Amino acid sequence: MKENLSINLKNLKSFVSYEEVIALAQQSVRHLDSLNSATGSGNDFLGWLSLPDDIVSQLDRIERKAKHLRSVSDTTVVIGIGGSYLGARAVIEALSHTFAPMQKNKHHDIFYAGHNICEDYLSDLIEILDARNYSIIVISKSGTTTEPAIAFRILKDHLERKIGKAKAADRIIAITDEAKGALRSLAETNGYDTFVIPDDIGGRFSVLTPVGLLPVAVSGLDIRLLVKGAKSFELLARNNKKASDNPSLLYAAARNLLLQTGRSTEILVGFTPRLHYLAEWWKQLFGESEGKDGKGIFPSSVDFTTDLHSLGQYIQEGQRILFETVISVKNPRKKLTIPRETDDSDQLNYLAGKRLSEVNHNAEIGTILAHSDGNVPIITLNIPELNEYYIGQIIYFFELACAISGYILDVNPFDQPGVEAYKNNMFALLNKPGFEEAGKELREKLK
Ligand code: PA5
Repeated sequence: MKENLSINLKNLKSFVSYEEVIALAQQSVRHLDSLNSATGSGNDFLGWLSLPDDIVSQLDRIERKAKHLRSVSDTTVVIGIGGSYLGARAVIEALSHTFAPMQKNKHHDIFYAGHNICEDYLSDLIEILDARNYSIIVISKSGTTTEPAIAFRILKDHLERKIGKAKAADRIIAITDEAKGALRSLAETNGYDTFVIPDDIGGRFSVLTPVGLLPVAVSGLDIRLLVKGAKSFELLARNNKKASDNPSLLYAAARNLLLQTGRSTEILVGFTPRLHYLAEWWKQLFGESEGKDGKGIFPSSVDFTTDLHSLGQYIQEGQRILFETVISVKNPRKKLTIPRETDDSDQLNYLAGKRLSEVNHNAEIGTILAHSDGNVPIITLNIPELNEYYIGQIIYFFELACAISGYILDVNPFDQPGVEAYKNNMFALLNKPGFEEAGKELREKLK
């Protein structure tokens, strides 16, 4: 691929000057140095930095396992939550057929479970799985997270009753810690094949480990190209101390300067529903990495033009606390033109012969102009097309920018202590052994 992901800051100029962005980005080279020398906070969680090289030796095994699951089943259920499922889903939904499960004569479907505790969701999934020949990839770094653990208990039971314990064991892959956690013990007891999530890589930075790569490979996508794209961005940015040439430094600096002017909410914008889950992955990456110690930019997202008819009004005229980061994709993957009609009763003949992408592109330019006029700062990220290579670039770009941005904010971007609060309350309310006293206190509070 000739082009790289690039960043355009020209729509920021009435809010922060290019010189200010360059100055903060240049100062932030020290954060890049801290990452590379592992001297900043959270420095025992930096394995993701060198993943594009480190993962290569595992790609053969991941591909072989994916081939096996595709040969013995028509569907794979990926069980995981947060960083243990969002990366895979982001890549798969960006690059697969939009209506993949409804396609006839095709390859392999991917469904997701363990990312909620909704009885109806899992019951509906089981109804579908009754008629499917399916496999399971269960992912949990800790091996103890409640949501995927419950989903796995239920689906394992369903699969074993459907095809027998031995056959089920051949179709269940566990991705977890090398030694500890309930999932590791379960895998050992039942003889499941396993992949390891390295200790030095947190969930939300794990998409280029087997956590993301195995489901992506099972879906039929090219994981080598994904890793190659990430590697190309690592080469471009990881040691690039010339701030004006380093998109991750520029992005991290720009968004922090916007925060300093009171823009505390960032909206990630895509003009294709294919980017919906990439935005979900990005929200977790930045939300969990930065939202602590009373700091951080609140990450949100929209799918345009869909959400121009819902949130567009607020973005155009509501509180000026927002800025947008638009992922602009130059070329679509498919081709569709608008037909001419003789009577033109819908008055659309002015568009006849045009491709939908041309209309969408003009919607994008028009929206950026309108939102700029409405005093919304806009950062634009440009990529030529959606394919594995550029999604790999986007992943590495955001991960590196997120780490730098966390250091600019002076937080540890690699922990997530706040996630425990709801878990402790839920365990106490459900009388989990060890939480009895806390349960009593909570029930008093609820009276
Ligand atoms: O980024 C993270 O660390 C979290 O989102 C985790 O991925 C998530 O909580 C799931 O944890 P686990 O993989 O231990 O089940």
